[in-house]
Amino acid sequence: MAVPVVKFPILMRLIRLLGVLVTALVLTWTVHYRGGLALVSANKDLIFNAHPVLMVIGLVLVNGEGNYPFSALLALLVCEFICIGEEMTNQENEQKRVNDYKMNDFVLSWRSLIGFWAALKFHNDKGIDNLYSLHSWLGLACLFLFSIQEVQETAGPPCFHGMCFSGVYIYALSVATATTGILEKVTFLQTNNVISRYSTEALLVNSLGILMIVLGGFVVSCISYFSEEQRRHP
Ligand code: HEM
Repeated sequence: MAVPVVKFPILMRLIRLLGVLVTALVLTWTVHYRGGLALVSANKDLIFNAHPVLMVIGLVLVNGEGNYPFSALLALLVCEFICIGEEMTNQENEQKRVNDYKMNDFVLSWRSLIGFWAALKFHNDKGIDNLYSLHSWLGLACLFLFSIQEVQETAGPPCFHGMCFSGVYIYALSVATATTGILEKVTFLQTNNVISRYSTEALLVNSLGILMIVLGGFVVSCISYFSEEQRRHP
């Protein structure tokens, strides 16, 4: 039986489409259902809300996109979605890739740090213990591995296999961490009777988790396609 061939650009389009949906869901949840986001506010819940948004956009979307740093932001994502077929010479392409990659890392590092700070501040201001859950341990592991990868990259370009392995590992860990974070938050809301089990909000958040897992599958599939291409045409 013939194996269907999935072309790289189609996968990229799907990844971006899912990225738009995930961004829309996480923003709808935090802004519409949870009252909005803030980095400075007397309402500590608003500060917490910055945590899922920055983490999902930073570690799950931008990290998954790799070469196209700002595309997880809705408007730019739509622009990139339209421009994806643009023709470039190999040299221009390579240069764009290097620049995008550096910018991606820069934006990602700051976004993740602010996202982490938001959760930490929420806990400290409300007198809640820090780092007691599986989610927080996985989250710390993500941030730790990500910073090691950054340091390694500044020391010199790692081998393709090493880069590919650590990239995929950290990305998969980020998706798993974000999913446990969502589960934890919704469980808090449900056990405190803030929302009911089958409320629209619960359905929206569960859909967000599923979409992130589906997106993760497409991103890994894209990476394995790219690795195969690299092996065939080094
Ligand atoms: C890859 C993305 C994420 C990372 C790396 C991450 C990391 C962390 C870390 C390190 C903490 C501990 C803060 C502290 O103890 O003071 C934390 C707390 C928390 N995060 Fe996340 N997070 C991520 C995504 C999410 C998402 C999407 C949600 C969904 C709402 C979420 C919900 C929570 C909650 C409810 C807490 C407080 C309870 C706890 O400490 O487990 N996180 N996160």
